[in-house]
Amino acid sequence: MEDIITLKNIDYSYYGKIPALKDINFSVKKGEMFSIIGLNGSGKTTLLHIINALIFPDAGDILFEGNAVTEKSLKEKSPGMQFRQRVGYIFQNSDIQLFCPTVFDELLFGPLQLNLPLETAQERAEQTLSYLGIGYLKDRPVYMLSGGEKKRVAIASVLTMNPDVLLVDEPLSNLDPKTQTFFIELLLELNQAGKTIIFTTHQLDLIDHMQPRVAVLTDEHTIRKTGTASEILSDEELLISVNLIHEHAHKHGNEEHKHYHSHYVFHKH
Ligand SMILES: Nc1ncnc2c1ncn2[C@@H]1O[C@H](COP(=O)(O)OP(=O)(O)O)[C@@H](O)[C@H]1O
Ligand SMILES: [Mg+2]
Repeated sequence: MEDIITLKNIDYSYYGKIPALKDINFSVKKGEMFSIIGLNGSGKTTLLHIINALIFPDAGDILFEGNAVTEKSLKEKSPGMQFRQRVGYIFQNSDIQLFCPTVFDELLFGPLQLNLPLETAQERAEQTLSYLGIGYLKDRPVYMLSGGEKKRVAIASVLTMNPDVLLVDEPLSNLDPKTQTFFIELLLELNQAGKTIIFTTHQLDLIDHMQPRVAVLTDEHTIRKTGTASEILSDEELLISVNLIHEHAHKHGNEEHKHYHSHYVFHKH
């Protein structure tokens, strides 16, 4: 399969002094499920912002289907439009994403930005509402939604654009278990339907469940290893070195017992 996104030697720092990414290299193939994992502060969100061209690297190149994505290339109208249309971003915090008066306006916004006729935009919005089972929210103001509903609307507002690539920052964060399951199953379904999905997480159980290819970010903002989910999950030494699992000592009766601990894998007695 051909590469859809390629990162070459990406460096980024905030205000030229807070390092966030150092020499990042990897490619994501068309239709792939790919995850960026690392502790808080390792650079996951910054990396997704770079991939979405919300910010631009200090050094290095981002390619989309082999073409450089730069501030300049995005301004050249049609290829720029295409990139914005083809790559969708679901923020960790839905409040950043939602700004229209009602849910339906929110869903119309993307298609209208793409200059689709109003009727087509409305059809897409209706289809997406029904696909996500949130038709009953159509006329609600966004501030009258629960966290889980906001997340569904934020997802819907991206899906109305029908992007080929979905960037998802921490899909589980701040969601109730029901919405978490809904979201994960949806991402698997969209991937089955051919969409490329890139998500971030620090939760190894999510990697075990989704089985993406994985890039592991370190505290020093570099990539320590890229591999399949099972290659990464079976590499205890790696996961300890990036603090995604830690040694955990406790007592069974009077006997001290040590094992490596994450919230899910390696928790064997
Ligand atoms: N807006 C910002 N201004 C300054 N520093 C930032 C900003 N956003 C993130 N950083 C810093 O960049 C580094 C990477 O952060 P981030 O990409 O948010 O990591 P993660 O998403 O893995 O938690 C951290 O040291 C963080 O403090
Ligand atoms: Mg983050």
